[in-house]
Formats: sequence, structure tokens, C-alpha cells
Amino acid sequence: MRHITLPDTGTAAAWREAARSCLKEGLSPADILWGSEASERSLFDDQPVSGAAPVKMTVPRSFVSLAETVCWHRDADRFARLYAFLWRLKDAPHLIADRGDRELAHLRSMEKSVHRCQHKMKAFVRFREIGERDAARRSFAAWFEPTHHTVEPTADFFARRFADMDWRIVTPEKTAIFLDGRLSFAPGQPKPDLPDDAGEALWLTYFRSIFNPARLKVQAMTSEMPKKYWKNLPEAATIPDLIANAPARARAMAEAAPTLPPVRAEKARQQLAAHMSAWEGPKEALPAAIHDCTRCPLHRTATQAVPGVGPHDAALMIVGEQPGDQEDLAGLPFVGPAGQLFDRVAEAAGLRRQEAFVTNAVKHFKFTPRGKRRLHQRPNSGEIEHCRWWLDAERALVKPKLILALGATAAEALTGSGVNILRRRGTVEQLADGTPVLLAVHPSFLLRLPDPAERERQTALFEADLRCAMEMVAALVAPTTAAALAEPR
Ligand code: URA
Repeated sequence: MRHITLPDTGTAAAWREAARSCLKEGLSPADILWGSEASERSLFDDQPVSGAAPVKMTVPRSFVSLAETVCWHRDADRFARLYAFLWRLKDAPHLIADRGDRELAHLRSMEKSVHRCQHKMKAFVRFREIGERDAARRSFAAWFEPTHHTVEPTADFFARRFADMDWRIVTPEKTAIFLDGRLSFAPGQPKPDLPDDAGEALWLTYFRSIFNPARLKVQAMTSEMPKKYWKNLPEAATIPDLIANAPARARAMAEAAPTLPPVRAEKARQQLAAHMSAWEGPKEALPAAIHDCTRCPLHRTATQAVPGVGPHDAALMIVGEQPGDQEDLAGLPFVGPAGQLFDRVAEAAGLRRQEAFVTNAVKHFKFTPRGKRRLHQRPNSGEIEHCRWWLDAERALVKPKLILALGATAAEALTGSGVNILRRRGTVEQLADGTPVLLAVHPSFLLRLPDPAERERQTALFEADLRCAMEMVAALVAPTTAAALAEPR
């Protein structure tokens, strides 16, 4: 049996060296008893291990970094576990990436725990000044109680961060000392008596002022700042008070008068009211009102807004994305290449477009100029949201029995969901007022498909969706109206 005692400082490097030479000698995990200076010494004496075959192996980088972290875990078995896994790795290097391996999973969770402890140390160490304020290098000290042996691997962070001062971080097991730019380690000490800090009052005021009572989430707060650290955090003393008073403070904030200057507040109120209320003019005035729309910046570059067209009592409403280049010039929806393709497929499906109300989710053409061309740009969620007001007005006017949404933008404008349209096509979703929406791809998607076979497949699906729209309308309205929508066969 080989008994290896690792030092308390430089532990990770010492383990790496020891593991390397054990491996070279071919010592199996059962041949080694690992210990550390801090733990009790073993009762066994070292005994020669005979008959072992030397091992040559290249250790994967990710194991090296895993071991470097796990060595600082508090578990007394950490060195043995690491070596046992390393021993298995020599015959099965793929194990380092095997998510199903229980031992690796255990080591990974130890690694995570050490990282978390390091993170907490970086966040919760609070220094107090212990030297003269006007000394060439000011001196500070902090007391901290880490869960794992993380003082040493985390000390570099503090050395970089507070390079221009002397400091020490005292913990029960180890003290990190940074003096004149040199980092060293000494044994741990009991909690020292640290003086009050002159900057602490300022810190507490700051902490209180950034606390927003209206956004209090106690569980999230205590998971980020576990209670075991509170006793060494000066700001923690204010937390119970802040939590207890949060509901009253949040109520007071809600009841307080707005602090906006009256003119801006009134403008904001009007804008909000315009967003919230529905359009209420006479139905004949709706296209003209859409023409005059300045609700979003798209009106500045487009030629004109393109309102929906079709009978106001149509059972079917067809919603596209936005006018394209040709629609923008003509002032009519779906007259360009996408509209022409739609017409061809609709004809094959027996759907007469003139009987439907055809419109777009966004009424102005969005594009980027490229030479003499205007390249289509997809409207963003804000633009869709602004324009939904008009789409709602058109829906309120037509009251369709069924809406056919062409493409992702129409789907988002109507249902509020941006989930991939290819996954939703051919399905029906219901709006808050009960109107069913049949989802289909946009015809320009078919135009863009480079592979002819895939284009053919998707076009057939699109045609089937249009036919389905016809059948649904037939089922939803009186047979006479449904018949009017269908081409005589
Ligand atoms: N694409 C649309 O979504 N609508 C049109 O009007 C034209 C092209």
C-alpha cells in the first residue's frame, strides 16, 4: 500500500504530480491511500507495491482541469475518486465525454460545487481597512468561511483585483496574504476582531437604495445570497427590514403620483390610449385611416400604406406579412410574385380569392435600398405590434368565420406566438374571441426554396392547406356562402 499525503498548499499541483508518478509505476487505485496534511494521518505505514506494470498515457486536457478544481473540494475521498477515474481513463479515454458515467457525473458535480463556492467568495468577501489610511499601500483584512478549500485557487482573483493594496483573507483553515504585490499562504486562524469600516455606511446606503421593493423575490435572493454568508456581510443586517417593509413600500410607490412632467405624461397617456382603444371610425373610412398611418417609422420610407381589400362580409380573411415592392407601388395586396403564386395555388385548390378579404399584418413595405432595388426586410415584433391595431380594426369590420394566416409574421400578429411556422402549418389555433386561424406558410417561402423536389412537396402541402381552408369555411358558414367561395368544378 502506498500512502500519499498531499500538502494543504499547492494541493492540486501536488496531486497531479503524485498521480502521474503512481500511474507511471502502474499503481492501481487499490494500491494507494490518499490523505492530506489537514486530515488525520493514516495508521498504515507505506509498504512497497510489487508486480505493477508501468503505464504510459496521455491525460485529456479536460480531465486535468476537472482534477485541478475537484482537488479543492472538502470531500476526503476526492483524491482517490480522481485517481480511480484516471485509472479507468487509461483504457477508455472516451469516458471523459461519457455523460452517462456515474463517477464522472459525481466528479462534475463536485467541480460545480467548488466553482460555486469560488463565485460566492468573490462576491461576499468584505474587506475592512486595518492600516493607516495615508500609508503608501493601504492594508485591508477580511474574514470568510468557505464551504470548500477555495482560498488558494481564488486568491489570484483578489490579487489581480486589488493589486495596489495589501490585504489578507483569513479563513478557519488557511490565510491568503498579499503583501507588496506577493501572494502567500499561512495556516488558518480564528475570526479576527476587525475594525468598523469608514466606507461601510456608504455601502449600506447604496445597498438600501438599489433594493427595489416592487421586484422582491425572496427565494431568488436567498439562493443568490445564501443565509450562511449573512453573518459576515454588513449589508445582510438590513435585509430582514427591507423584506418586511417591501409590500408597504411597493404599495406606496404604486399609489404615488407619477413623477413625469405633466406635458410628457399627457403625451404618453394619449399614446397609450391610442394603443389600447380600438379604431372606431365608420367602416368606409378605414382604408383612408390606414393610408394616413404614422404609428411607426415605416411610413417614412414606404410609398403608401396598403390596406386590405375584399368584401366586408367575407367569411374568409387571408392575412399575409406586408406589402412587397410591387404592392407598395400599386397600393394593393398580393399583386407581385408571391401574390401570383398564391393565385395559382388557390386556383388549383378551388379557392376564389375575390370572395375573401385579403390583407397584411403590416401595412407598410419595409425594405433596405440596394442600388436601384429595394430589398424586402422582415418586420420586427414592435412593428407587428404597432400595426396589429389596424389588423384588429379590419377583423372587427369583416368578422371573418376563418382566418388564413400566411407565414410567420401573420401568425405572430394574430396569435402572438412566434413559434416556427413550419411546425404549426396545417393546424388551427383559436383567437381570444373564438375566431379560428388556419396556419400556412407564406407563398414567398415557396419561391425561395432552391430544391425543386422540396418546392414541389411544400407547394402540395400549401395547396392542401388552402383546400382545408375551403372545407372549414364550408363547415362554418351557410352552404351558399361556402359554395360561392369554391370554383365550380
Ligand atoms: N407578401 C405579403 O405578405 N403580402 C403582400 O401583399 C405581398 C407579398
